[in-house]
Amino acid sequence: MTSTITPPASLNKFEKFKAEKDGLAVKAELEHFARIGWEAMDQIDREHRLKWLGVFFRPVTPGKFMMRMRMPSGILTSPQMRVLADIMQRYGDEGSADITTRQNIQLRGIRIEDVPDILNRLQQVGMTSIQSGMDNVRNITGSPVAGIDASELIDTRELVQQVQDTLTNGGKGNPEFTNLPRKFNIAIAGCRDNSVHAEINDLAFIPAYKDNLLGFNVLVGGFFSAKRCDAAIPLNAWVPPQDVVDLSQALLEVYRDNGLRSNRLKARLMWLIDEWGMEKFRAEVEKQLGRPLQPAAEKDEIDWEKLDHIGVYPQKQPGLNYVGLHIPVGRLYAQDMFDIARLAEVYGSGEIRLTVEQNAIIPNVPDSRLEAFLVEPLLQHFSINPDSLARSLVSCTGAQFCNFALIETKNRALSLIEELDTEVSLSKPVRIHWTGCPNSCGQPQVADIGLMGTKARKNGKAVEGVDIYMGGKVGKDAHLGSCVQKGIPCEDLKPVLRDLLIKHFNATPR
Ligand code: HEM
Ligand code: SF4
Repeated sequence: MTSTITPPASLNKFEKFKAEKDGLAVKAELEHFARIGWEAMDQIDREHRLKWLGVFFRPVTPGKFMMRMRMPSGILTSPQMRVLADIMQRYGDEGSADITTRQNIQLRGIRIEDVPDILNRLQQVGMTSIQSGMDNVRNITGSPVAGIDASELIDTRELVQQVQDTLTNGGKGNPEFTNLPRKFNIAIAGCRDNSVHAEINDLAFIPAYKDNLLGFNVLVGGFFSAKRCDAAIPLNAWVPPQDVVDLSQALLEVYRDNGLRSNRLKARLMWLIDEWGMEKFRAEVEKQLGRPLQPAAEKDEIDWEKLDHIGVYPQKQPGLNYVGLHIPVGRLYAQDMFDIARLAEVYGSGEIRLTVEQNAIIPNVPDSRLEAFLVEPLLQHFSINPDSLARSLVSCTGAQFCNFALIETKNRALSLIEELDTEVSLSKPVRIHWTGCPNSCGQPQVADIGLMGTKARKNGKAVEGVDIYMGGKVGKDAHLGSCVQKGIPCEDLKPVLRDLLIKHFNATPR
């Protein structure tokens, strides 16, 4: 079935250019773009449509694009990691990549001339960057320890992969799902600790028993934006695992064909649910699915506090362990990526996993290899036992590469937290999230302390500052935090954070 979108009376700029030419159409023109170079390209192709291939024009570094991969459940193999490292080394002018809060990787400094080559190389190792930006379904998240977690309920790896394959036609691109009203996030949790932040996704599956069968309760409509933030709410539906793909597809079709398209600030799924009411939305999804949905199970199985997976943990497979490495603010350089690939091969099974806290896990390390692994020099830098504040630090890209940023984030976050870790001691980690602007990519609303970039004033001058969020709760009974203090100049932030840590998180001065 092809899309049945009725263009609204007044099309915004994005709807106009999507109606003129589907984003995916640029796939056929890539060789041409590579020949003519970024400056000669049509502006909409360069700055928008290329995102359908995962290629992002970055106004902060014109001519040096960012590439956003797809990494279902955040799982990759050492050959794949090595290809990404090699791409960074060979083609990436900045030489750095970032692990994102959707268990994904973004590569920096890519020239358009090299994109055809890069896409070929990715394809050779079974990777894709397709449909990873703009009005597409983003990287689909799943438990980072699926299949190895001793306490997991459902191994979600295959389901996540199947949903991605359906929505992207196995990575070749699927025009059925390339013109959504807005971006769309999907998460599938099979664990007890809500390791995917189900509540902040447009569509989330969380484990639940019904009549002694294990399946998923379904949550819908979670999203953040500068204008509005909402946690996902129950669809009042339970599905067995084998229905996850069909339901995802049907729900996306309803959203695609009915989502609000005239105002991009009101185009995310929750706005449609608001307009229709949940009953009608659910009925339309049932209609599209072609069969009735079962009501939700009374209770779900998310009953643990959220884990961060840093450290050494025994797997469900006897004699094997997974080792979670702390990657400070998710920043990786080509050599780090080669090293991680090597460690995964030498000590594990060659697999690597990424977490929504921007860290990496090496699974399948036998007991007999642990000792040697833990003295590898790379673990000095990517620790299994980082300081309390560094451990849970998350940051969006910020001013170094992002044109929306009002402040520099990653480097500032790292140096400030390093100082604070020497000044106070904490009995448990405090999750501090930085985000460079109100778009909230760094999710300050899920943090214990969230810091959102803003322009502040000091001595009559505009300076970089933050609004402070508090009260985000993750894991069981997750809920969003809210803004508690506005406009703190970054240069005055350290004592403010120190006081908050002492007052609210039992920090003791060292
Ligand atoms: C209009 C609103 C938004 C805009 C314009 C926006 C823009 C961007 C840009 C430009 C980047 C790439 C920056 C770079 O690394 O060079 C990015 C990355 C990202 N953003 Fe946003 N963003 C928006 C809202 C959000 C929200 C609400 C979330 C979720 C909380 C989010 C989550 C992410 C994530 C996870 C990434 C990393 C890439 C990925 O894994 O998908 N963004 N965003
Ligand atoms: S929050 Fe703002 S600064 Fe950070 S990546 Fe998103 S758009 Fe850029």
